[in-house]
Amino acid sequence: MALIRIAAAADLPPGAMLSAEAGGTAVVVCNDNGTLHAFRDECPHRNGPISHGNFVDGRLICPWHAWEFRCETGCYDYNPAIQLQRFPVVLENGEVFVDA
Ligand code: FES
Repeated sequence: MALIRIAAAADLPPGAMLSAEAGGTAVVVCNDNGTLHAFRDECPHRNGPISHGNFVDGRLICPWHAWEFRCETGCYDYNPAIQLQRFPVVLENGEVFVDA
């Protein structure tokens, strides 16, 4: 496991998302009411950059064709078999780390 520092936790308050690179992988990290989630920053539909979309009511919305993914599960709303690739995220000493 190689944890890569992404940001200070203060820079990722509830309702926020940000993009970063973790070990050469583009990731999107969001804070859903205090719970942090990290995913590959790539939509499983046609590889759209998820972090360029919106984060609303616990859903990440792809900017290209508006597919919505629940950050709790990573699943596409209309077909749960389609999912964002999730990475472990760790909060330690006020810093956010991702294992990508
Ligand atoms: S590329 Fe994301 S919805 Fe099409």
